Amino acid sequence: MLGGGAREHALVRALLRDPSVTSVVCAPGNAGIAADVPVFPVDATDPVAVVELADTHGIEFVVIGPEASLAAGVADALRAAAYPVFGPSRAAARLEASKAFAKQVMSAAGVPTARAQVCETIEEVGAALDDFGAPHVVKDDGLAAGKGVMVTESREQALAHAAACLAHPRGRVLVEEFLEGPEVSLFLVADGERVVPLAPAQDFKRIHDGDLGPNTGGMGAYSPLDWAPVGLVEEVVEVVGLPVLREMSKRGAPFQGLLYVGLALTRRGPRVIEFNVRFGDPETQVVLARLRSPLGQLLFRSATGALDEQPALQWSNGAAVTVVMAAGGYPGTPHSGDEIIGVDRADSRNAVDVLHAGTRINQDGALVSAGGRVLSVTAAGDSLIDARARAYVAVGDISWAGEQHRSDIALAACEGRVDVPRRDQQ
Ligand code: AMP
Ligand code: GLY
Repeated sequence: MLGGGAREHALVRALLRDPSVTSVVCAPGNAGIAADVPVFPVDATDPVAVVELADTHGIEFVVIGPEASLAAGVADALRAAAYPVFGPSRAAARLEASKAFAKQVMSAAGVPTARAQVCETIEEVGAALDDFGAPHVVKDDGLAAGKGVMVTESREQALAHAAACLAHPRGRVLVEEFLEGPEVSLFLVADGERVVPLAPAQDFKRIHDGDLGPNTGGMGAYSPLDWAPVGLVEEVVEVVGLPVLREMSKRGAPFQGLLYVGLALTRRGPRVIEFNVRFGDPETQVVLARLRSPLGQLLFRSATGALDEQPALQWSNGAAVTVVMAAGGYPGTPHSGDEIIGVDRADSRNAVDVLHAGTRINQDGALVSAGGRVLSVTAAGDSLIDARARAYVAVGDISWAGEQHRSDIALAACEGRVDVPRRDQQ
C-alpha cells in the first residue's frame, strides 16, 4: 500500500480482512498504519524508490492511494517492472491532474457536466464570470488537494482567486456554470473496459458546520444515501463510467483503477462535478466500513483486467459515518506536534475504527499531530442515526490543542432534510 492518510489506513485494514491477502506493508504510512502493519519511510511519489522497495520485499501486488503518486508515474514504473498495480497510468491520471483535460474527455464522450471556460488571462476570467453569472465557480486547473476551487457570490473574490491561480507558472483556471443539487461521491472500480460500482457516499467539503468556510480535502462522510434516486448508480455507470472508459481507451490511455465520480444531482439529472483517479478521502472510510466482499480480490481483478470474474459485491445493511478531526489552522497552515489523547479509548469502542492521517510518534513516545487532517473517526451502525451517534461518542473521547471537527456530519440525512430537486421531464 502506498500513501499515509486515513484512506490508506482504511484500505490497509480492509485488505487485512481479505482471507486471500497474506500480508500487507505500507510506505510511508503513519503512526496508526504502523501499529497494524510494517511501514517503510519511502517517498511514495518517487517511482525508482517505490520499485526498489517492491523488489526488496517480494511484493506481489501494489495498491496506490494518493493522486500525487499516480501523477508522478509510479503506476507506470511498477507496471514496467511487471508488478500488478491498482491505480491508473500517468496518462490516465490526467482525468484528475488536469480539469481542462477532464472536460475535453467528457465533451468527447458526451458525459453530462457543468459548462466551463478555460481561461489564461484575468480578462478572459472576467468575461466568463459575466457570461455564467453568480454564484461563481473558479477552479485551479492543476492538482490542489481539494483546495483549488472557489464557489462564491462575490465577483471580486472570484477574480482574486483566479488571479492567484494564474500567478503560478503555466497557471490556467476554469470558470464554470454553478450546479445546484446535493452532491454524491460514487467510486467505480475499473479494469480498462468494465466497471464495478461501490456504494455511493456523501462528503462534507467545507471546514465549518452548515457548509461554511473554505473548502478542505473533506471533513466527514456517510453511506448509504437513503435519499438518492432509485437507479442512480446504474445510470452513472451507463452515462459516465463506460463512456469515459471507452474514450480513454480510444486515446491510448485505458483507465485501470478507481474512477471517483463527484456528482451533483440537479434538476436536469446527475451532472459530473469532478473526476478523481483514486479512492476519495474520507468517503473510502465509510464505503469500506460497509463492504463485506474481500477487497484485495476486487482490486486485483481490476489490476489484471479480470473484472468479468468479479462476483456481485456484498454490503452491510447498516450505515457508516466518519468524522474528520483536523489540526488547528487547517485548511491553512496546520499546527503540528500537539499531543493527542484518548485514541485507545475511542478505538476500543464497539464498531468504531480510529483511522490515522497526519499522526506520528514523537521522541517521548507520544502520539502527536503531524498534518492537516489528523484522524478519521469511523463508526458502523444498524442505521445512520446509530452510526452517527457512535462516531460522535468516539470523537468525544479524543482531544488535542486546537483540534477542529464538524458537528453536523450526516445530520441533515438523519433528519430527512436532504432535498433532491425534482427532475425536469426531458
Ligand atoms: P472539485 O475540486 O472540482 O471537486 O470542487 C470542490 C467542491 O466545489 C465540490 O465538491 C463542490 O462542492 C464545489 N463545486 C465545484 N464545482 C462546482 C459547480 N460547477 N457547481 C457547484 N459547486 C461546485
Ligand atoms: N473527499 C474528496 C476527495 O477525496 O477528493
